[in-house]
Amino acid sequence: MEELYQKIRQDFERNLSILEDKPEETVDSTIKALWNKAFGISLSATKAAQLPLPQLSEQQKITLLQLAEKRISGTPLAHLTGRQNFMGIEFRCDKRALIPRKETEILGQSALELCKKIAEKKTILNLMDVCCGSGNLGLALAFLQPDTIVYSSDLSPDAVALTKDNISFLNLNKRVEVVQSDLFSQFESDEFWGEIDLIVCNPPYISSSKVLKMNSEIAVNEPSMAFDGGMIGLKVIQKLIQDSPRFLSGNGWLIFEVGLGQGPFVIQLCEKSNQYQQIKSFTDNDGHIRVIAASKTST
Ligand SMILES: C[S@@+](CC[C@H](N)C(=O)[O-])C[C@H]1O[C@@H](n2cnc3c(N)ncnc32)[C@H](O)[C@@H]1O
Repeated sequence: MEELYQKIRQDFERNLSILEDKPEETVDSTIKALWNKAFGISLSATKAAQLPLPQLSEQQKITLLQLAEKRISGTPLAHLTGRQNFMGIEFRCDKRALIPRKETEILGQSALELCKKIAEKKTILNLMDVCCGSGNLGLALAFLQPDTIVYSSDLSPDAVALTKDNISFLNLNKRVEVVQSDLFSQFESDEFWGEIDLIVCNPPYISSSKVLKMNSEIAVNEPSMAFDGGMIGLKVIQKLIQDSPRFLSGNGWLIFEVGLGQGPFVIQLCEKSNQYQQIKSFTDNDGHIRVIAASKTST
């Protein structure tokens, strides 16, 4: 077992390139996740890193070497294992939607804090997760904050199907539903106007020209719709800022992720819309604004 581990380790040290936005993937966590997969257990790199390695049969060792080869050739680890961890929760993951990124946990944690604050004054919270992808944000909030009802949506039918799988996987069918929708288009009714306590969104925010130049591991394996925010990257964000207040309740908040460098301009967009009273930002460890939260101006 030790010998096989070291062999793959050396191979990975020489040949594996790990993307910067997957800090949880190291040579060791990658081997552990693939090792478990070969054994027949689907685990994310985050989860596998915490567990002991099972004993593999001869056939499973061959499977492990094949998986390692595929990883070196650029297949994302999360697609080989079928799992990605987000906010401590294991999610199903495949080509149908973006692989949830560690950096989006800044948004998830900030949204969770807001939920807790709102929950001090309200018993049942209505949340929306627009641009839901695999469903990770809305589902993590539903999982970690009881007494929440989540309405998720995505323009991509594939993403909606994966979110449905994750809703069942996490047994949250009673509190989370998902529809295919261009942002809020499927929610335009009395049932939703003015009723939502928190809208969370990780929108596509990369400019179309940059999307064309993305790393091939991402470009080949993840849907471009997850990244492409139009000419300057702000197409969806602008609409989100403009349309959210219609759905927010009196004390409701919109909270969303922005790209590196977009923060100050997007804060100005929120201010200029005259629809928000408090505007807050949250930064990453390098001090870059990565999340903006804005509360609706009370009428
Ligand atoms: C950056 S991904 C985020 C996925 C997921 N929320 C996450 O954090 O991993 C953006 C998502 O927005 C969806 N999307 C793009 N344009 C949209 C639109 N106009 N309306 C709704 N969803 C859209 C994409 O299909 C993709 O799933």
